[in-house]
Amino acid sequence: MRELFDQAARDYDRVESLMAFGSGPRYRRDALVRAGLASGMRVLDVAIGTGLVAREALRVVGPGGAVVGIDVSAGMLGRAAASLPVRLVQARSEQLAFDRTTFDFVSLGYALRHLDQPAAFAEMLRVLRPGGIACVLEISAPTTSILRRALGLYIGRVGPLAARLIGSKKATRDLWRYFWYTIEHAVPPATVLENLSAAGFHGVRRRVTYGVFSEYTAVKPGVPAGA
Ligand SMILES: C[S@@+](CC[C@H](N)C(=O)[O-])C[C@H]1O[C@@H](n2cnc3c(N)ncnc32)[C@H](O)[C@@H]1O
Repeated sequence: MRELFDQAARDYDRVESLMAFGSGPRYRRDALVRAGLASGMRVLDVAIGTGLVAREALRVVGPGGAVVGIDVSAGMLGRAAASLPVRLVQARSEQLAFDRTTFDFVSLGYALRHLDQPAAFAEMLRVLRPGGIACVLEISAPTTSILRRALGLYIGRVGPLAARLIGSKKATRDLWRYFWYTIEHAVPPATVLENLSAAGFHGVRRRVTYGVFSEYTAVKPGVPAGA
């Protein structure tokens, strides 16, 4: 999987933008703000990829805040480094090399289905300060079979076609087929909510847009220092 992301990194943003009709940045920013991201916060963006979530987080936190990104893929991190003023670390979400209570906000965009949820959620909780917020964005397979089939066709067939049209490498086409496979076989949203609660988060909730875009938010229990 890491090799696939490494090889597809170059064209990731172009295909994502085509497939989302350019709505990705706005949606990501709005979702972060809905979850509670605000000016001046210290953010960890887990599975930063090329930086599509981190770029919007930077806009929201402004010059008084900071964003750090981690990812397993050197190819993805290379793309993020080329365009974003953020500290980047090559690491797995299941093992974050940061001290306890380092961050006010942890985001995880469209990577939930690639990782070990209990381990990643435990690490996200550990690095958040008390009262800190976790925000997990993911695409969920619709529950009705007709919509599920339509989404499968769009991501698993149109995605590779869009990649071919812009002259992407085979890896990018394979990545979009792999995306649909992982969405279709992902654990159900109810299990994600249970996993967040089991990790120790409070106030766990899910907001859904168009029956497909899931925004999970959760809060680390406790009172922030100095409150
Ligand atoms: C679909 S991309 C999403 C990137 C970005 N967050 C976005 O919103 O576009 C998924 C990313 O998750 C990363 N990834 C997958 N498994 C991971 C893990 N266990 N730890 C850290 N990163 C991981 C991949 O390398 C890839 O960059």
